[in-house]
Amino acid sequence: MTIITNQFKFRLPIKELIARDKVFGFMQPQQHPLIDTRHNILLYLEGVNKTFDGFKAIDDFNLYIKEGELRCIIGPNGAGKTTMMDIITGKTRPDSGQVWLGSRLNLLTMTEAQIANAGVGRKFQKPTVIGCLSVWHNLELAMAGPRSVWATFRAKLTGEQKDKLASILTLIQLHDHANIAAGNLSHGQKQWLEIGMLLMQNPKLLLVDEPVAGMTHQEMDRTAELLIGLAGKHSVVVVEHDMDFVRSIDSQVTVMHQGHVLAEGTMSKIQQHPQVIDVYLGGS
Ligand SMILES: Nc1ncnc2c1ncn2[C@@H]1O[C@H](COP(=O)(O)OP(=O)(O)O)[C@@H](O)[C@H]1O
Ligand SMILES: [Mg+2]
Repeated sequence: MTIITNQFKFRLPIKELIARDKVFGFMQPQQHPLIDTRHNILLYLEGVNKTFDGFKAIDDFNLYIKEGELRCIIGPNGAGKTTMMDIITGKTRPDSGQVWLGSRLNLLTMTEAQIANAGVGRKFQKPTVIGCLSVWHNLELAMAGPRSVWATFRAKLTGEQKDKLASILTLIQLHDHANIAAGNLSHGQKQWLEIGMLLMQNPKLLLVDEPVAGMTHQEMDRTAELLIGLAGKHSVVVVEHDMDFVRSIDSQVTVMHQGHVLAEGTMSKIQQHPQVIDVYLGGS
């Protein structure tokens, strides 16, 4: 696999593209023109290290996510899962290592906003939907991205945009709730709305941190279905503690421990791994 390490020639195009996207977020291309996934790998993390006040939170960490792959990441508290997501999204800079989106976008040279615009969407644990606005309006605002909210309020949706919004409403199973204030949705429905809001921006990669915390069993099953349905069109990385949920997704699983990868494979395979049983499964 070849990674182009000469940053210089890509600096200008990235800036230009992002400037153009500022006016109308919904005009963002389905795929950032500089994302090159010819090698079928969308996200590479190689030899990543991060130390906080002498404590190694991320230790020689490697992760390769294929285009359209759904990957679950598990690990005990403090394993470095959130820090890993912070590094991918540009919130935290690693001390060393490589982080690439496709083989041409070096995420370590980009700001958080540039990384988001290049197609990396992140769902935090706490939903950030606007409670007083309807489900439909929340999705409408999300289409624009944070910078062009005002433009969205003034602009009318095109037929194509309405279709897209309606199809996402169906996907997140909120089509009967389009006119309901988001604040009146159940906890699970708010989480799905938030996933829908991320989808409005056509992310290539979705990072989802503990999506089923606080959900009922039925909501959990529905969330698993939703995430499985997104795979193929998007790469999805899910950090989750709930082992039943991870089992029901039945994807490749990466086990993190003390900032590095302890094991990788199917759930049934890693459940047999003695060290995994020791540090994680044994204690749950
Ligand atoms: N900003 C920070 N400053 C100092 N220590 C941090 C910071 N962020 C995370 N850590 C430490 O790094 C380790 C990994 O944390 P985190 O990535 O949140 O783990 P996880 O999400 O797997 O529970 C923890 O020991 C945590 O205390
Ligand atoms: Mg965490």
